[in-house]
Amino acid sequence: MKISTSLNNPTIILAGATGHLGGLLAEELRKRGAHVRALVRVGTEAGKRAALQTLGAEVVEVNFQNALALTQACQGGTCVVSALSGLRDVMVDTQTRLLNAAVAAGVPRFIPSDFSIDFTRLTYGHNRNLDFRKEFAEVLDQAPIAATSILNGMFTDLLTGQAPVVLFPVKRILFWGNADQPLDFTNIANTATYTALAALDPNTPRYLRIAGDVQTPKGLQRAASQATGHPFKLLRAGGLGVLNAMIRVTKTLMRNSQEVFPPWQGMQYLRDMLSGQAKLTSLNNDRYPEMRWTSVQQVLASRR
Ligand SMILES: NC(=O)c1ccc[n+]([C@@H]2O[C@H](COP(=O)([O-])OP(=O)(O)OC[C@H]3O[C@@H](n4cnc5c(N)ncnc54)[C@H](OP(=O)(O)O)[C@@H]3O)[C@@H](O)[C@H]2O)c1
Repeated sequence: MKISTSLNNPTIILAGATGHLGGLLAEELRKRGAHVRALVRVGTEAGKRAALQTLGAEVVEVNFQNALALTQACQGGTCVVSALSGLRDVMVDTQTRLLNAAVAAGVPRFIPSDFSIDFTRLTYGHNRNLDFRKEFAEVLDQAPIAATSILNGMFTDLLTGQAPVVLFPVKRILFWGNADQPLDFTNIANTATYTALAALDPNTPRYLRIAGDVQTPKGLQRAASQATGHPFKLLRAGGLGVLNAMIRVTKTLMRNSQEVFPPWQGMQYLRDMLSGQAKLTSLNNDRYPEMRWTSVQQVLASRR
């Protein structure tokens, strides 16, 4: 395996570069002159590899099960960044192998694929996908490497699609619980830019918390009305107990699903935001002055 290193520029080892966030991260790192070594799965289609090469990234096909190959692929790195997405086998097992490889190769820093609401404030058994992050954080905290997790709330972009909160056809904001509960949102582009800056910053703390915008359900109502020019109303579907019951029923109906984001997982996410339990506190938004934050209203207005 041929690995190139650069003496002048930091070398960022990026796992998950063929994904949505990972691709944007590769772009943001390249813009800032970093050498990006994208670790992709063996057999990754040529188009995905070519897209990364066009950005100027070095693309290395690696067997993520092979500790030696992973260690070789991490050689010379200044920071390993993971933008992997998956269930336990990826978020705990594969990330642990990547972490071990980073340590064995002498890489000083590691950024895991957390990119979520504040899972550190939740107990185990509460939110399936966040449990994987908690479990990996325990492994990471024991490893002889500096670690930084980026916690960004919900990707704002989900409000224009996957997350059934802003109901455009009926002009309603669907929520449970309290209409005044503040909720954290950061769009994917801002998350990628901030993470790239953190990857190139040698002295980051264990956690960096960011929110491009903080809005209550009432604030979402205002943002949606202003973004579309049509008045939106609030639609309270019940208290958080109702949402919990819906999660239980949906989970039972979908118990054999292997989806990373089944509907009940999205509901768990929403529940932990609407309860305030996973709210981000002490935001680190001001750490990098070049950040230009995108508001919820801007994201809603850009919907096609
Ligand atoms: N806060 C939020 O609202 C929010 C929303 C969505 C996502 N996220 C988080 O953001 C992060 C990135 O998500 P994304 O949407 O960018 O993911 P994505 O587009 O699905 O990309 C996932 C990446 O992981 C790679 N991958 C998956 N399984 C793998 C395996 N077993 N071995 C090696 N590589 C593997 C994929 O490679 P291939 O191309 O080879 O499949 C791809 O590069 C994740 O932590 C995700 O949970 C947060």
